[in-house]
Amino acid sequence: MLRRAQARPPVHIHTPEEIEKMRVAGQLTAQVLQMIAGHVRAGITTGELDRICHEYIVDTLDAVPAPLNYQPSPEYPPFPRSVCISLNHVICHGIPGDRVLKDGDILNIDVTVIKDGFHGDSSRMFLVGEPPLRARRVVEVAHESMVRGIAVVRPGATLGDIGHAIQSYAEAQHCSVVREFCGHGIGRLFHDEPQILHYGSPGEGMVLVPGMTFTVEPMINAGKRHIKSLPDGWTVVTKDHSPSAQWEHTVLVTETGHEVLTRLPGEPL
Ligand code: MF3
Ligand code: CO
Ligand code: CO
Repeated sequence: MLRRAQARPPVHIHTPEEIEKMRVAGQLTAQVLQMIAGHVRAGITTGELDRICHEYIVDTLDAVPAPLNYQPSPEYPPFPRSVCISLNHVICHGIPGDRVLKDGDILNIDVTVIKDGFHGDSSRMFLVGEPPLRARRVVEVAHESMVRGIAVVRPGATLGDIGHAIQSYAEAQHCSVVREFCGHGIGRLFHDEPQILHYGSPGEGMVLVPGMTFTVEPMINAGKRHIKSLPDGWTVVTKDHSPSAQWEHTVLVTETGHEVLTRLPGEPL
C-alpha cells in the first residue's frame, strides 16, 4: 500500500477469537493463489485470470474480493478488478485486462479476501516459460527478502529489524527496495496501522507484541528503486523499466515468534 506520513493511532492487538478468523481468511487467500497457479500459462489474458479468481472467491469460498471497488483514499479511482496482476516492470497494483501472457513474462498475482469480516492478503510471483536471467534473479531475491523479513518477527523485535533484514539482503544482491509502498497492519481493515517499511535500521521503530497481524510484502527492483505511477491511477512501474518482483504474506506475532497465516500446511512460503 502507499506509504503515508501521519500520526499513528494504537495498533490493534487481536483476541484469540479474532486470530481464529484471521487464520480462516488467510487460508482462503492461500487457496486462491494455489488454485490460480494451475491457470498461469502463455496465451491466457490477465483479465481471464482475474475472472477465474473472482468466481472462485465468490462462488467456491463464499468470500469477498477486497480489491474490487477498493478506494484507499479519495485521490484513487475505485480499483476495477478483483485481484492485482503486475507484469515485468510493473511493481504493483497492475489492473487485469487484455494483456496476453507470453513466454518470458514474470508476474505477481496479489489476492486479498474478506471472510467473516477479516482480511487475508498474499501475493506471489509466477514465471511463464523461461524469463531472462535478470528477471528470474529479481524474483528469487524478492522471495528471499520476504523470507528474511518474516524470519525476524517475534515479540520484542522491532519494525526496523524487519526492514533491515529485507533491505540489507536485497541491496547486497545488487537489487533495490521500493520505498513508496509498504506492508501494513491488517484485520477488520485492509490497510491498518502499523506501516511495515521494507527498509530500516535494527532496533528502531515500534516493538512487536503478540496478537499483531500485518503483511510483509517487499517490492524489489532489478535496477534502481525509483517508481512512476501511470495515468490509470493505480499501476506503478519502475522508472528505469527494470523488472520488479514482489511476494507477500500475512503474519501473526505469537508468544514465541510468528505464524504465517497465508501459508498452506506443508507448502513453502
Ligand atoms: N493487495 C495490495 C496490498 O498488498 C493492495 C491492493 S489495493 C487494490 O496491500 F485496490 F489495488 F487492490
Ligand atoms: Co498487502
Ligand atoms: Co496484497
